[in-house]
Amino acid sequence: MTTANKLRVGVLVSGRGSNLQAIIDAGESGKLDAAVVLVVSDVADAYALERARTHGIPPRFVDPKAHTSRETFDGALISVLTEHQVELICLAGYMRILTPAFINHFHHRIMNIHPALLPSFPGLHVQGKGLQHGVKFSGCTVHFADERVDTGPIIIQAVVPVFDDDTEQTLAARILKYEHQIYPRAIQLYAEGRLEVKGRRVFCLGNEADRAVREGWGYIHP
Ligand code: GAR
Repeated sequence: MTTANKLRVGVLVSGRGSNLQAIIDAGESGKLDAAVVLVVSDVADAYALERARTHGIPPRFVDPKAHTSRETFDGALISVLTEHQVELICLAGYMRILTPAFINHFHHRIMNIHPALLPSFPGLHVQGKGLQHGVKFSGCTVHFADERVDTGPIIIQAVVPVFDDDTEQTLAARILKYEHQIYPRAIQLYAEGRLEVKGRRVFCLGNEADRAVREGWGYIHP
């Protein structure tokens, strides 16, 4: 598949961008029928923008301070994403809440990654909250974004164990490794047109889930 035929992905970031890197790497290694064509940040010095530059992907900083409301800020985001003909938007450590107008504009075309097994532990600092609660398993979730925070239809999840000597940092690092696997996988399923949303549920068309289990993908499903 040539780059011209690939799904055009725009990634929204606020920080270091390790998930962005995983998506770029999967695309460059030919594992994805998708290519990152734009990286947008609301933080001027986000390291993720540097990663984009390194890979020849246009980095864009949209300054929240230049806008008087969330609506006009998100309007600026819509403009830049449309200008680059982005078909799928991936939130990768993007720390702003999107407006309903933005969500509706890209209905079921926005994915988010979250470092917990939703619907448990939405929001921020969730690895620490899981530890404090005493969970024995945690993990990560890729879901379609909806109008509320971390509530949209779940596409894919991975489970990791929590150990007695875990700290917030060690647990976050274990989860992050799986984030880097499931995000490109969710994008590929989308690029293949295999994700069907019915209400809250996302169905994965084809027999991939069965094959994944047979081939020992373990806790990642589908
Ligand atoms: C990731 O762990 C991601 O799941 C999380 O921020 C981190 C960003 O890391 N996102 C959220 O907590 C959103 N609620 P990265 O910049 O290295 O991809």
